[in-house]
Amino acid sequence: MITTGRAPAPDDAGTASTPELRFPAGFWWGAATAAHQVEGNNTTSDWWTREHRRDSDLPEPSDDAVDSYHRYPEDVALVADAGLGMYRFSVEWARIEPEQGSFSRAQLDHYRRMVDACRTRGVEPMVTLHHCTNPLWFARRGGWREDDAPDLFARYVERVLPVLDDVTWVCTINEPNMLASLRDWEAVEMLASRRPEPDVHVAEVLVRAHRGAREVLASSGGLLTGWTIGTQDFQPLPGAEDVARDYGYYREDFFTESAAGDDFIGVQNYSRTVIGPDGPLPLPPGVETNILGWEYHPAALGNALRHSWELGRGTPLIVTESGLATRDDERRIDHTAAALEGVRAALDDGVDVRGYLYWSLLDNYEWGSYDPTFGLVAWDRETFERRPKPSLRWLGDVARTGVVPSRPRARGSAA
Ligand code: BGC
Repeated sequence: MITTGRAPAPDDAGTASTPELRFPAGFWWGAATAAHQVEGNNTTSDWWTREHRRDSDLPEPSDDAVDSYHRYPEDVALVADAGLGMYRFSVEWARIEPEQGSFSRAQLDHYRRMVDACRTRGVEPMVTLHHCTNPLWFARRGGWREDDAPDLFARYVERVLPVLDDVTWVCTINEPNMLASLRDWEAVEMLASRRPEPDVHVAEVLVRAHRGAREVLASSGGLLTGWTIGTQDFQPLPGAEDVARDYGYYREDFFTESAAGDDFIGVQNYSRTVIGPDGPLPLPPGVETNILGWEYHPAALGNALRHSWELGRGTPLIVTESGLATRDDERRIDHTAAALEGVRAALDDGVDVRGYLYWSLLDNYEWGSYDPTFGLVAWDRETFERRPKPSLRWLGDVARTGVVPSRPRARGSAA
């Protein structure tokens, strides 16, 4: 959480246009996805089971998703053709180890082909080893509550090593802070303002799993390894600094502190939460939100980066997720341009930010629903045909030139 104690500010600098921003050569530009959200038919995972329970709490199942399991060459081509340099995707533990101790060589080969597809197209792969879903067998035996969970994860990571041959960037666990907070991954909409009490034991097990995985990965040499943390910009009202500090500690800060000294920390931010004397405050009426009801507040990204930089004690950062669930693609571009202002300002202040990956490349399965569209690319629900949005071209131009052009600061309605 932000400890400056300053009052929550409006999301823009009050000027009519955003400034033109120049980014350094070598800064990574890209887009991200996660296996369960785009591949389809992840049938051996805990999420699939939850989606298909007769009394499922989720509005709709993922089913074929975007069929990226088969169409990943098209996805990689979209990234490459747009001019983006990096593609973050995840490999699915539930496919690679569908039953405890049974590893699928065919699935490992599949993911190896994805890395090859990136390399062939000149795209830098960033591979996430765990993104929200667990193999069903792992969840059934207690998941991350069990003390031996880190050993089981390490054994899986060892099997993935051949996939990572010639990969540089590897994320061990995505948003461990969410895994520790959301018992059965309650509806993601909850993230808007409140997060359930985190389970400290699970948090500690996850840190051990992360460290164990980094050790396994170190045996391969040449990898940059870290984890990616959901970093809400917690903004205390004056006088609520201690409340915000306590509220944020096991929800986020513990995980960022634990990552100090890693090769990088992935920072993922979508919005802010204002904290009053009794905890998170509801949004005031009339505030612009995304489709999920999260406040439109692109300035949160810069705050999240500064906070992570402080807690990570100088560990390099990379924005591994940032984006807007909206039907209005122009508003997506506004949001990205404004979020990048915060990134540029953080760089100016000496924060070592290595890149910016937009979430998400594709409209995808948002943990219960296809309605919240975060993508740079839409797709046809019948044919899976990919339909790039103007924002893909816009971000690609930024990547190619290193320049974010000035834009009028529009007022809008993202939802
Ligand atoms: C997760 C993604 C998710 C995104 C938007 C992050 O919490 O890593 O899987 O789709 O936020 O909700």
